Amino acid sequence: MNQPVMQGLEINAPAYVKNAKLIAWVADMALLCKPETVYWCDGSDAEYQRLCQQLVDAGTFKKLNEAKRPNSFLAHSDPTDVARVEDRTYICSASKESAGPTNNWMEPAEMRATLQPLFDGCMRGRTMYVVPFSLGPLGSPIAHIGIELSDSAYVAVNMKIMTRMGRAVFDVLGTEGHFVPCVHTVGAPLAQGQQDVPWPCNKTKYIVHYPETREIWSYGSGYGGNALLGKKCFALRIASNMGRDEGWLAEHMLILGVTNPEGRKYHVAAAFPSACGKTNFSMLVPPAGFEGWSVTTIGDDIAWIKPAADGKLYAINPEAGYFGVAPGTNMLTNPNCMLSVRGNTIFTNVALTDDGDVWWEGMEQDAPGKALPAHLIDWQGKDWTPQIAKETGAKAAHPNSRFTVAATNNPALDSAWDDPKGVAIDAFIFGGRRSTTVPLVTEARNWVEGVYMAATMGSETTAAATGQAGVVRRDPFAMLPFAGYNMSDYFQHWLDLGEKLAASGAALPKIYTTNWFRKGADGKFVWPGYGENMRVLAWMIDRIEGKGKGEDHVTGVSPSYEDLNWTGLDFSAEQFDTVTSIDKAAWLKELELHDELFKQLAHHLPHELTDTKAEIERRLAA
Ligand code: OXD
Ligand code: MN
Repeated sequence: MNQPVMQGLEINAPAYVKNAKLIAWVADMALLCKPETVYWCDGSDAEYQRLCQQLVDAGTFKKLNEAKRPNSFLAHSDPTDVARVEDRTYICSASKESAGPTNNWMEPAEMRATLQPLFDGCMRGRTMYVVPFSLGPLGSPIAHIGIELSDSAYVAVNMKIMTRMGRAVFDVLGTEGHFVPCVHTVGAPLAQGQQDVPWPCNKTKYIVHYPETREIWSYGSGYGGNALLGKKCFALRIASNMGRDEGWLAEHMLILGVTNPEGRKYHVAAAFPSACGKTNFSMLVPPAGFEGWSVTTIGDDIAWIKPAADGKLYAINPEAGYFGVAPGTNMLTNPNCMLSVRGNTIFTNVALTDDGDVWWEGMEQDAPGKALPAHLIDWQGKDWTPQIAKETGAKAAHPNSRFTVAATNNPALDSAWDDPKGVAIDAFIFGGRRSTTVPLVTEARNWVEGVYMAATMGSETTAAATGQAGVVRRDPFAMLPFAGYNMSDYFQHWLDLGEKLAASGAALPKIYTTNWFRKGADGKFVWPGYGENMRVLAWMIDRIEGKGKGEDHVTGVSPSYEDLNWTGLDFSAEQFDTVTSIDKAAWLKELELHDELFKQLAHHLPHELTDTKAEIERRLAA
């Protein structure tokens, strides 16, 4: 195939790349971004090691102690580039209404005109990595291909872990295959001879999606979801648009396999807002009293779910790795996660121990009286001691510090995690974070009631994050920052899908809401959470099997104290009442908040939701 040459720069497409559209696009982007070289990633282990060494040499990575954390690296980011930037994230659909009131929007032509000068020459002095990736098992009918162009080797090595990345993607793509073009730059061109910094980025940031043309353009950040464009940008924001147009779902959901002592296996997809224990739930270890049960992970963050000819919904994990929050993780809260990150892991913004290992807040809380490390290098490269922490409140690890690790490192990985056909979903869980009002678990009586629960899901802010505790942020379906189109149209899509499945005669998955976060009069969490959430999960499975008991109430069906298995846990009926009681006055106030949300989302809001709210009001008044 002819290799376009521009201004002395060859794009060097390997002979096995046969997609003319791809080659022409890479040439165009090279012309715009003006990198020094173009490098096509093949996804091999040798390439990974080479790029990691390059990152070590550049000062971006520190190699960790081989005896303690084999083949693992630590990166400390620029202190201004530590998280997703929701206020700089745009859905540039043709009309503002299509993006809806929950997304930032700019007219596409105006955004293109804004980005053009920023991308012009943005990769000068750097390598443009061509990163081919499949979201979902290669060749799966549910999977899709993306190509990320990035001037960050950190992005290339993270994408190797997070996706099915490499040469085989080009075989699937063939000569005519479709790919989602994703362009990423840290926005820090290097002048001739200019010394690079360990974490280049730009204080101007744009994370831009064009839903109609299925394009992603990311400028100025090297961190997580801003830069690893397969994750939130493609797998959720662009894919939710694809799903709406093609009749499937792209969801912010983990996927679990649950096998009961009788050996019957079920699959559950669960949505939790960011930072609500999602990784922990996806790797749950059944506690004492649940011998014979097993829980296995298919995905920890995102699910792509498609209806099949048998009327069931089949889910795949589009990702191949976990980019999880480190602080709070320990051998008690999430042993499978701790085992996953024993080696072959990239850590970002955690602390460095004096013997070349990693540390984060909470790691010491898995045994009583465990001492804090006497000295660390914190995520900003400064000395940290327990005394300094006491005096200044300095965190050793950034609260949003992360590990990047392959799914295959997870000891609880489900044997079907890579099955191209996906797993049939038996239940959806929507988990809010509320200190009051919402009970531990509620089963929706029907699909519409479930959609209502998910649409009105809330997450309470913590004082640490916002300075203001207890403010409820509505996070419909845990998709607030991730739905790539109008939220009310997204609700409608769920309702339409439910109707279509019901019409095919199939049994619809059950829908549950959970709330692990109710507090007692002392302000402390009452429910023990973590592995003990198995008690609730087992009740759901019993319900699916038709043997779990429950009681009808104003918003759905919940278990009574006797309906859960308490073997191995000292949890009284009074405590249970604290996490399950329904306070009518609180619910009346809650419904006023639902009203506020519905006012905000009035454009195209499905009448089924306001009808369901009226039903709840009627029951409350009865
Ligand atoms: C994530 C998030 O990183 O939801 O998964 O923010
Ligand atoms: Mn997430």
